Amino acid sequence: MSISPHGQRGHLFHIVMNALTRCLATYWSSSIGKKLVVALTGIVLVLFLAGHLIGNLVVFMGPKPFNEYAYFLHHMLHGAGIWVFRAVMIVMIVAHIVATVALTMQNRAARKSYEHSATIQASKSSRTMILSGLTILAFVIYHMLHFTVRVGNEYNNPELYKFMLDGEQVHNAWKMVIDGFAPKVWYVTAFYVIAMTLLCSHLMHGVGSIFQTLGFRSKKSESLIKQISIGYALFIWLGFISIPLAINLFPGYFAALANAVGH
Ligand code: HEM
Repeated sequence: MSISPHGQRGHLFHIVMNALTRCLATYWSSSIGKKLVVALTGIVLVLFLAGHLIGNLVVFMGPKPFNEYAYFLHHMLHGAGIWVFRAVMIVMIVAHIVATVALTMQNRAARKSYEHSATIQASKSSRTMILSGLTILAFVIYHMLHFTVRVGNEYNNPELYKFMLDGEQVHNAWKMVIDGFAPKVWYVTAFYVIAMTLLCSHLMHGVGSIFQTLGFRSKKSESLIKQISIGYALFIWLGFISIPLAINLFPGYFAALANAVGH
């Protein structure tokens, strides 16, 4: 019996897909496959943090530049850009967590057969990573409810949070951030600072691990990698905490910026 060209193509497609699935499954089941997923998704998340921080620091420049920046983010690619960004972030975060959990379970099963001090030490640092990671996840969920969905506050009220940008009424994201960290809600600032501190600890270990997984760690590069990880983590920590802390410590500076544009 002869197979039609269409049937042959379908058959070939099936074989290729089968091979690909098997290949991915084998790769995933190895610990290096999962480590690579953690490292590659980690790179994207680490780069996002730098971008988000630099954008957020525009808050010190006043309502107009910050609201222009927020407007740009919401209107990239006619509004589709932010959704592409969100989809990528969700995939990255989920893959980062799933691979970490799978890796931890695999390591735990392997460790049962031989316990010695080096693995006990490694398990301590991975426990710290899991704890700081879970706190960061809780923070991100809270943060999105706070500033993106804006529940439990008035930030979605256009009467209170409107800003005129070149004749167009837009959301006053600048005022939202200033009010979000107002001294009367000092506990919000406290939670942000605690979360940022755990983020800093997560990055100190995580950035070094990315280099290790990608094969860049050697006796020669070890101390440089350590310096890069600590330097990057401190840059992210100081940059992020500077915003809520400045809003609490120097309210006069932000009031003057608001007055300058009549808000
Ligand atoms: C003081 C520190 C921070 C400030 C002031 C801040 C500010 C903001 C603001 C204003 C938005 C909403 C933008 C808008 O919809 O107009 C936002 C969204 C977001 N932030 Fe932050 N952020 C901070 C720290 C962080 C950190 C440390 C992370 C990650 C660990 C993070 C992750 C996100 C994410 C994932 C979104 C959602 C973006 C979206 O889908 O709309 N932020 N942030």
